[in-house]
Amino acid sequence: MSCPIGVFDSGYGGLTILKDIVKEMPEYDYIYLGDNARTPYGMRSFDVVYKYTREAVLKLFDMGCRLVILACNTASAKALRTIQQVDLPRIDAQRRVLGVIRPSVEAVADFTRNGHIGVLATSGTVASESYLLEIAKIHSEKGFQVSQLACPMWVPLVENNEIDSPGAAFFVQKYIDILMQNDPKIDTIVLACTHYPLLRGVIDRFVPQGVAVIQQGEIVARSLKDYLCRHSEMERMLSRGRQVEFFTTEKGGMFDKMATLFMQADVVSRHIEI
Ligand code: DGL
Repeated sequence: MSCPIGVFDSGYGGLTILKDIVKEMPEYDYIYLGDNARTPYGMRSFDVVYKYTREAVLKLFDMGCRLVILACNTASAKALRTIQQVDLPRIDAQRRVLGVIRPSVEAVADFTRNGHIGVLATSGTVASESYLLEIAKIHSEKGFQVSQLACPMWVPLVENNEIDSPGAAFFVQKYIDILMQNDPKIDTIVLACTHYPLLRGVIDRFVPQGVAVIQQGEIVARSLKDYLCRHSEMERMLSRGRQVEFFTTEKGGMFDKMATLFMQADVVSRHIEI
């Protein structure tokens, strides 16, 4: 039986992570699962995000995955810890679920020169304070000053394919301006939502010169590669068929068109109930 790596997101955003993971490690099999029918997760409660994420992880386990990446900051912020600490020991202690926040936080120090960091994310990720807590923990001696801001309009713009519309430019500029007014010294902005790289062209138009923008795909891909090097027991179990399969909870929607655009490769998805 094949043992693909599962990659989960509430919708299209996780494709920005999958793309870089497949580029870094094309030899493995992958299953992408987008919960497009229930997206966005960003404004949902802890309980609901946990419930949906747990359901998706169990589905990916049923499909043969032993390793699942939550390619979603909201799910990583609100569900990962409970899944790791409560669910996995009960379900199968050999399986693993990893998130995107920790690798991103580790990478921050490579970018900032003055320690002033901006974090743009969903309302849920901001409310969880996961980035504030993780940055304070991992970089405790560096005294980083972190300003976070929720951008509630950005995910709907992506999910509705309004990336190139004047509305996208308006809302991208609006949130970047607010962030920079909150701390004009910010020299590094973390795009702490996997949907946001899909707006990268617009984002770059409004970020002041000299400010670094951190996108998570390559960082997560490198961190996963490193994880597999350190965990040969997991790496040995993964199947190596170079197959990438796509599943979405959405029915008759525009997943294939959008995913083909984002993956820059033909995507034919299948509908799935979770
Ligand atoms: N892509 C997700 C994230 O990284 C969340 C989008 C949403 O469902 O609100 O937070």
